[in-house]
Amino acid sequence: MKITVIGTGYVGLVTGTCLAEVGNDVLCLDLDQSKIDTLKSGGMPIHEPGLLEMVQRNVAAGRLHFTTSIEESAAFGNVQFIAVGTPPDEDGSADLQYVTAAARNIGCHMTEYKVIVDKSTVPVGTADKVRAVVAAELAKRGTDIPFAVVSNPEFLKEGAAVEDFMRPDRIVIGAEDVRAIALMRDIYSQFNRNHDRIVVMDVRSAELTKYAANSMLATRISFMNELAILADKLGADIEQVRLGIGADPRIGFHFLYPGCGYGGSCFPKDVQALIRTGLENDVTLKVLQAVEAANEAQKRVLLDKITARFGSDLQGMHFAIWGLAFKPDTDDMRAASSRVLIEGLWALGATATAYDPVAMQESRRIYGADARLTYADSPMSALKAADALAIVTEWKEFRVQDFAAIKAALKTPAIFDGRNLYVPSQVREQGIEYYAIGRR
Ligand SMILES: NC(=O)c1ccc[n+]([C@@H]2O[C@H](COP(=O)([O-])OP(=O)(O)OC[C@H]3O[C@@H](n4cnc5c(N)ncnc54)[C@H](O)[C@@H]3O)[C@@H](O)[C@H]2O)c1
Repeated sequence: MKITVIGTGYVGLVTGTCLAEVGNDVLCLDLDQSKIDTLKSGGMPIHEPGLLEMVQRNVAAGRLHFTTSIEESAAFGNVQFIAVGTPPDEDGSADLQYVTAAARNIGCHMTEYKVIVDKSTVPVGTADKVRAVVAAELAKRGTDIPFAVVSNPEFLKEGAAVEDFMRPDRIVIGAEDVRAIALMRDIYSQFNRNHDRIVVMDVRSAELTKYAANSMLATRISFMNELAILADKLGADIEQVRLGIGADPRIGFHFLYPGCGYGGSCFPKDVQALIRTGLENDVTLKVLQAVEAANEAQKRVLLDKITARFGSDLQGMHFAIWGLAFKPDTDDMRAASSRVLIEGLWALGATATAYDPVAMQESRRIYGADARLTYADSPMSALKAADALAIVTEWKEFRVQDFAAIKAALKTPAIFDGRNLYVPSQVREQGIEYYAIGRR
């Protein structure tokens, strides 16, 4: 099948590459010339495990191509996946300008039946908007070429995106057009061999399903974060509580880890967007409003623990920070807790040296050459001249540590652990002050 994927970010590039991997002929469009140049020259604009090798394999096999030409991309695929960004607008609603621009470009140049697939996370009603935009472009051209609009939200996780796409838990297809549903079933048949994972539903339900999934996961995290704050006050251990409740099959163990707040490109913006959709429809989503407020507060939790220990004037102090990415196995720092910590430390007069295995380049792009943030080439070298250590991302390489060496390197042997990586008693036995999230 000939498939166009519009947008070569985390979702678009993974989607296009995985669709090529199972034998389709895929053209990926991006308007960002530098991304396309990087991909064409065999490079990789994002960090995603296993993706580079898969891209190279499919490019070499002649099944995966890249372009910046909208004429070429509109002509190429019978199926056109829209996987562009939907960042939050000022009021929290999803900004649909990139989605509508992509739809307009298809309507402007298509010459035969197309199935247009909304893969981006978009609010309920967006498929109708996309349909209207394409129809308006066709009308301008004095033609009425048939087309269908399908909702096919993406559930992949950054850091495990290739694996998630190749072995999905479920494939949600929101469509009414019988021909389009058949085509979508065909595309996903290769990812659906063990048992049928496809759930076909109406378009609006599919659009809402994506927001419901992310909002539920964000709710679990904020719930555990609030309980961890209470556990701190009560002298209870949230890790024991997690084990105690996770064993209940109605609850389960997933997404019950407290920490220094969720970030990334999805949870914060999708929770906000769903709250906004509610308000636009006279429904106040009170639970989600609380989830968001709790998370905003939680992103400051390390800073609060640091000021509780050292006071609120941190002038002249220097902190080591382990982890910049919003989670391990990605270089994505969108809405990352590390940013709240770094900027909070700066505001109180402190400076920092950070180490992250893959996100330091992204951090340099965000913060430029600000002398208040320097970078180290290993976790231990980040500790040099530092007063204390803050851990923001749970990278595997931070898990096993030589605590005696950490103690010797820090001016004040104190670890502020935003991801509960260590057994508190083991760290404290080494004479290190250990401030974790809800741990005894
Ligand atoms: N990142 C995730 O983990 C994830 C998971 C599931 C769903 N989503 C959703 O998928 C969508 C894309 O997310 P992302 O993280 O891949 O975004 P991204 O910002 O990494 O990539 C978007 C790409 O689209 C390109 N683009 C913008 N307008 C374009 C146009 N008109 N034509 C061609 N290309 C255009 C941009 O240049 C950019 O490269 C969002 O709606 C997001 O919410 C993301």
